[in-house]
Amino acid sequence: MSTHNPQHPQGVIITIDGPAGTGKSTVAHLLAVRLGLEFLDTGAMYRAVALIAIEHDIDPHDGPALAAALQAADLHFDFRTDPPPMMLGDRDVSRRIRESDVSDIVSIAAAHRALRGELVEQQRRVAERHPRLVTEGRDQGSVVFPDAGLRFYLDAELNVRAARRARQLVQAGLRVDRDLIERDIIERDRLDSGRADGPLVRPPGAVEIDTSDHTAEQVVDSLETIAREKLPDAEFKR
Ligand code: DC
Repeated sequence: MSTHNPQHPQGVIITIDGPAGTGKSTVAHLLAVRLGLEFLDTGAMYRAVALIAIEHDIDPHDGPALAAALQAADLHFDFRTDPPPMMLGDRDVSRRIRESDVSDIVSIAAAHRALRGELVEQQRRVAERHPRLVTEGRDQGSVVFPDAGLRFYLDAELNVRAARRARQLVQAGLRVDRDLIERDIIERDRLDSGRADGPLVRPPGAVEIDTSDHTAEQVVDSLETIAREKLPDAEFKR
């Protein structure tokens, strides 16, 4: 088999980049299940660092302090469960990192070069130990695994992305303000696209998919078809 995972000769990596509200996480996990690959949610890692900042009273603008706190923390996924929960030591923080105090500061924390460098290293180490992987995040195809076997970029119209985010919040039992959600998304896009290090970009050569008019299942159908077509020797689950 040819190399589709630069970290591992027998591996295969599929990356999914794109902005918030495109359904990236849902789609990436479903795709991993269908193809029999493992799943890496890199946004969870940035969120966990934001949680560390909150709990240790670290200013999210202080990159070196965040990077030092990350190095001191035992941040890892528990790959015995699917999807793998985000662990801080022996504490499962998967739900906690979706709360609004974390969401409010995560883009600020995610802008720091030293911190990104450390998380990129950790993501590549995950790909060595878990060589058959669907990985999802703003920079996975552009920076972390530019030589991955297959790279996707998901996008959707702003109003669709805001509606999806509103639905998630309602399902979580929270009150929603649609205007505020749209403003939040615009601001997060601005921060994620404008940062100097690992900005949100359309990776050249990635397959672009507009998810505006499609359900997650429909998007996964397309990605699965493309993956089986483009990587015929990857020995995916049938
Ligand atoms: O996908 P998400 O909402 O869980 O991501 C949380 C934040 O982390 C978001 O502000 C973008 C940032 N992020 C990043 O900069 N690089 C990644 N690979 C993944 C997420």
